Amino acid sequence: MTRNNPIFCALDTTDIDHAVSLARGLKGSVGGAKIGMEFFNAHGPAGYRAVAAAGLPIFLDLKLHDIPNTVAGGIRAVLPLNPSIVNVHAAGGSAMMRAAAEAAREAGDSRPLIIGVTLLTSLDRSDLAATGVGGSTSEHVRRLAALAAAAGLDGVVCSAHEIEVLRRDLGPGFKLIVPGIRPAGSVVGDQKRVMTPTEALSLGADVLVIGRPITGAGDPRAAAEEIARSLAA
Ligand code: C5P
Repeated sequence: MTRNNPIFCALDTTDIDHAVSLARGLKGSVGGAKIGMEFFNAHGPAGYRAVAAAGLPIFLDLKLHDIPNTVAGGIRAVLPLNPSIVNVHAAGGSAMMRAAAEAAREAGDSRPLIIGVTLLTSLDRSDLAATGVGGSTSEHVRRLAALAAAAGLDGVVCSAHEIEVLRRDLGPGFKLIVPGIRPAGSVVGDQKRVMTPTEALSLGADVLVIGRPITGAGDPRAAAEEIARSLAA
């Protein structure tokens, strides 16, 4: 799926025509597209199908977090859409993640990867403390990623700064999906801790989630191709 091109472009928009035209234009220059709750809550399965019809693998970024039975049902409900990746919050706990992984297996060989969201990068140590979690953000990320691996998930979403330690903790087969990626010299926007695509890949990322550096470019396809070229160099 992502062997040749690890870039998944985040289509963060509620404009269905824009999402479809980005997906069509990016076919062949990225490894896949990411559809999140903003688009999916606005356009649902029909909107998803319209984007997926462009032919790109889709990462359905729903960040599910509920009791195990409900999350399993949520996963089952999207299996007919044939996404490549679906995610759940690792903070939902072991039983919830196991239920999600088991539900996905019902799709057999075409099942999506089930990925755990560790800690949102918008949260820092003081936010964690306010929710009753002591220690550093990186300790918490390691704890949640280990829990996700033990529960049978295929990998986690993590910041670029945790790639190295999680790769060491969890071995080569565990997928690391990394947002907050910025090509050298591009606008950082609201991302606080960023890394270039080349650095993140060389540290061991499997999927690079890149949004605005591609979607905000005058020519998104050219921007994606330039990033892909920089990775191949
Ligand atoms: O435009 P940009 O490259 O910043 O987009 C990054 C994408 O990754 C967005 O869809 C954002 O919601 C998502 N994401 C993130 N940081 C996380 C988790 C997801 O930026 N910790």
